[in-house]
Amino acid sequence: MASNSVVDQVWPLSARWTDGELRIGGIGVTELARTYGTPVYVLDEDDFRARCAAWTAAFPDADIHYGGKAFLAPAVVGWLRELGLSLDVCSGGELAVARRGNMPPGRVVFHGNNKSVAEIRRAVEWGVGCFVLDSFHELDRVARAARGRGVRQAVMVRVKPGVEADTHASWATGGERTKFGLSMASGGAAEAVRRVVAEPALDLVGLHSHIGSQIFDLGSFRTAAERMVAFLRTVEREHGVTIDKLDLGGGLGVPYLPGEKDAPAPADLAEVLRAAVPDDVRLALEPGRSIVAATTVAVYEVGTVKGRYVSVDGGMSDNPRPATYGAAYTAVLASRASVAAPGDFTVVGKHCETGDILADGIDLPRDVRPGDLIAMPCSGAYQRSAAGNYNMIPRPPVVAVRDGVARVIVRRETEEDLLRLYVG
Ligand code: LLP
Repeated sequence: MASNSVVDQVWPLSARWTDGELRIGGIGVTELARTYGTPVYVLDEDDFRARCAAWTAAFPDADIHYGGKAFLAPAVVGWLRELGLSLDVCSGGELAVARRGNMPPGRVVFHGNNKSVAEIRRAVEWGVGCFVLDSFHELDRVARAARGRGVRQAVMVRVKPGVEADTHASWATGGERTKFGLSMASGGAAEAVRRVVAEPALDLVGLHSHIGSQIFDLGSFRTAAERMVAFLRTVEREHGVTIDKLDLGGGLGVPYLPGEKDAPAPADLAEVLRAAVPDDVRLALEPGRSIVAATTVAVYEVGTVKGRYVSVDGGMSDNPRPATYGAAYTAVLASRASVAAPGDFTVVGKHCETGDILADGIDLPRDVRPGDLIAMPCSGAYQRSAAGNYNMIPRPPVVAVRDGVARVIVRRETEEDLLRLYVG
């Protein structure tokens, strides 16, 4: 990838190559590395905004709830707020980030299969827009919290639509065997609806389903939509209620490798869903990965080169996806031009585990050496948000770039931060 312009869809919109150096948001990676250290996650803010806009343009009459689990920071919440998106959170911690980012509580949807009583209470007190109920126990807890505050809490019921999407088993959530939601087939979802309708402290505003993540087949979304619409109509008929909203979750896939199959665009999904969902039902969607993944490039510094192994200064602690799911990434030399012939390398991290591989079978110039910067595109989703501290390695910062200006939106963790947790 030594071309002057980056056209492949795995790179952020503003990525350019000048004399062999990668620039994002008008700033070279060498300068970013010098200023912020490595590893560093570089997020193209305009690209994030453009991808949000693509969703709201494709679904002008729908609610777009960004799936915060993919990557969340108060600055991100600010962008969503400005762009008219809502936010899906799935824990008290994500709720706290939403608050820090001044998201109006009415635009927050609270997910999760085991929200604690304390999380529920905090969310009700803050005035969270909607709970997505995932069990009968939770239904009772939310009703109790709402009664305690003297409010009527808006809720959706999460339904298993019985759709087995073609994706990694860990990310498929629409089938009968998933832990998420209540079954349409066995009557659990219908019973939950009956109980919500009978509970004065709860207001049933919609039904929810999420069939999984990293899905390329629009037919799965269509099937889920058709089943959910049929279920919604049955529920309306049986309970004499009107259900305004159908939230069909997130999950639109993205390519991680250059030349990988094209991902469907939000507009393609819109076309499919328009045919399946009647006009009087308000749609909601929860894209995470398809907004943030390609906006962000992980930049590492090479520390050692040993045979085929190029070791960089991060690894499975900041990007657990290859080790956890066998996820494939590409990696390129990003700090200089090289005329050396390509060799076949494996980019590995610095963790004490053989499986700490970031990218395998990668073409890098044979003269790759310590001090070089390696860039890995498509690093925005489920990387920094899923990063840990294995081997006591502090987590990298996230730097947003735009029009030649860089801004730290998540600072680098320090060893001091880590030591602060120890008692004694
Ligand atoms: N809505 C719900 C209820 C979800 O559970 C998820 C993702 C989303 C929306 C957003 O889905 P997206 O558009 O980002 O695909 N850690 C895995 C992915 C787990 C997905 C969790 N749920 C990974 O690294 O690929």
